[in-house]
Parts: sequence; C-alpha cells; structure tokens
Amino acid sequence: MFSNLGYFTVLEMEKEINEILENFQKRLPSANTKAEVAQISAEITGPNGSLTALMKVIPTLDKAERPAAGKLINQAKRRIEPMIAEAYARIESAQMSAALGQKPDISMPNFDIPRGTLHPLTLTIRRIASILKKAGFTVAEASDMETEWFCFDALNTPSDHPARDAQDTLFMPKEAKFSNVSKHSDELYLLRSHTSSVQIRAMLAEGVPLKIIAPGRAFRRDTVDATHSANFHQIEGLYVDKNVRLTDLKATLDFLFRSLFGGSVKTRLRPSFFPFTEPSFEVDFMSADMGKLSNKWIEIMGCGMVDPKVLENVGIDAEKYSGFAFGLGVERVAMLEHSIDDIRHFYANDVRFLRQF
Ligand code: DAH
Repeated sequence: MFSNLGYFTVLEMEKEINEILENFQKRLPSANTKAEVAQISAEITGPNGSLTALMKVIPTLDKAERPAAGKLINQAKRRIEPMIAEAYARIESAQMSAALGQKPDISMPNFDIPRGTLHPLTLTIRRIASILKKAGFTVAEASDMETEWFCFDALNTPSDHPARDAQDTLFMPKEAKFSNVSKHSDELYLLRSHTSSVQIRAMLAEGVPLKIIAPGRAFRRDTVDATHSANFHQIEGLYVDKNVRLTDLKATLDFLFRSLFGGSVKTRLRPSFFPFTEPSFEVDFMSADMGKLSNKWIEIMGCGMVDPKVLENVGIDAEKYSGFAFGLGVERVAMLEHSIDDIRHFYANDVRFLRQF
C-alpha cells in the first residue's frame, strides 16, 4: 500500500479508498462474532487502520488537494459506519435466536428495518435556520391554515388589491371551524399562500423587538410543472427593532447567501413591489461556484423594509420601530444546492431520489 508517499495524489487516494471499501464489504458478511466485526473495523478506522493511515498522508499532498482528500476519507467513514452497525445488529439477532432455541420470537423488534434519511427540504430548512441562528434569528411557527386578515389584510393587502389575484384561492367552506387558529373577526379560513402571515402572528404574540424566521408550507393555485407546485415551502424572515435599516437587510442577505453558496457570493437588490414592504426588492445572487450557473445573476427571493402600515396594523409604533422582511422559497434553494431540475422530485417519495441526501 502507498509505498511512495511523496507521489500520492487525490486520484490515487480515491482508488485506494475504493479498494479499502470493497475489501471491507467483502469481509464484513463473514464476521460471525462481535469481536470479528470489531477486528475488521479496527483494521480500517482504528489507530493503525488503513483509512487512518490515509488521513496521515493528507499533509504530504499538494495543498490544493488536501480538502478534497479529507472529504473523500470522511465520506468513506460515513459509508462504513452504518455497515458496521448493521453487522452488529445481524450478529445480535443471530445470537438472540440461538438463545431462544431457534424458535422465532415474534415479539422481538425487527432488526432489518432500514433507517430512513431526512428529506432534502428538511435538510435545507435546517441548514438555513442554523445559518440565520448565528445572526440572532429564532424560529417561529404557525398553522398552515390561516384567516384572510392574517394572510392579506394585516399585510396591507385589502380584498380589492390586485396582489391578491395570484394567491387568495384555497378557501375552506364557510362553516369550517379550526380551534387551533385564532380568528381576527368573522373571516374565512384558507390555506396560507405565503408564510408572511407568521410575521403578523409573531408580532402580535411577542411584540417588539423581534427577530424571527418562519419556515413552513405555503399553498397556491399553481398548475404543477417542473418549477411550480401547489404545495411548497418558504422561509419568512422578520427583524423589527429601533433603527433597523436597509443596510442591515443587505448584510443579512450577504451573510446568508455566502454561507449557502460560498465566499465568492455577491448579492444585489432590484426594485420590486410587495404590499407589505416599502421599498421592496427582488434579490439576485451570483457565485463563482455554481456549476453551469457560475457567475450569472440568479433570482432568488423577495424582501424589503416592513411597510409602516403593517406595523401599525399590529399596534407597533412605526415612528419608533422599523424592520426588514424577506421571503425565501425552500425548494428553489434546495434545487440550486443539489442541481435538481424538477420540483416534483421532492414530493414523489421515490427512495432512489431521497437516498441521495
Ligand atoms: N410573501 C411573498 C411571496 O410569497 C414573499 C415575500 C416577499 C416575503 C417580500 C417577504 C417580503 O417578507 O418582504 O411571494
């Protein structure tokens, strides 16, 4: 194995790792005791193991190649861990049935149940939440069911406002009652068309200052195609305090998109319109590290400074307080993160897709 350390490259290392994995996969099924499993795994990940030895080679590699090499070794470790766990479970279950005199005990848990993985959208939501947590945001949640006032009126979108056209569709029957959703007056319930309604719920519940994100589902009348779904996810952001300025919003967006898509990211704001922000913007970002989309402006989300009318609607003094808000599509971020070309993959429940994350 790698006798000439000085000439080792990442490619050679990858080959080496693949051989180690192959050998491991071949030997593991023949282990019949826990000690044998421990022995085989020690030969790879133990202090004198072959992967551990490869770790030690990293510092001798070309500087530029070191991160890639580290990643390969870590990936290999992550592949090995569940296999080891499975081998232990297999042996345990064999020992158990031996102890029971071969009679199957139908009350025993099934050791063969495959472990699931987190859904890619859950992973993206968690990733964004952990980034924004560092900027002081906490997570707020509300029901998928909303009332007109929270979804529209309080957000400065009265019933005759054209901005409602694309959104106010999925109303519940008049007589519907949902005890977990507080009503503002005698309005109808609907499936929320955006998570912006959580801005209103959070301001009423918590008052100001307030710094929240609200991840969750939203629903629209959209016809389903590769980029549209009638049921999708958004992350709303809201920061209200004394002296919150546009520069705070821009800095938060820079921080978020650099953390998501690399240090080279630039963001820009283009003037736009939302009823609940003034001024309002569309956000574009550009990254040097986006495959085919590298160095191109990519439209990603809407944002703006909270319209004073929205603050007044929930009894906050707009002379004293100001804020920014943003709304980000989770599917869109996840599709860019993983180069996914069709939004429908997220909801098809095909394990061949889901297992890749
Ligand atoms: N609610 C908007 C939508 O679903 C997205 C959005 C835009 C949210 C601007 C915001 C914002 O908070 O400031 O299209």
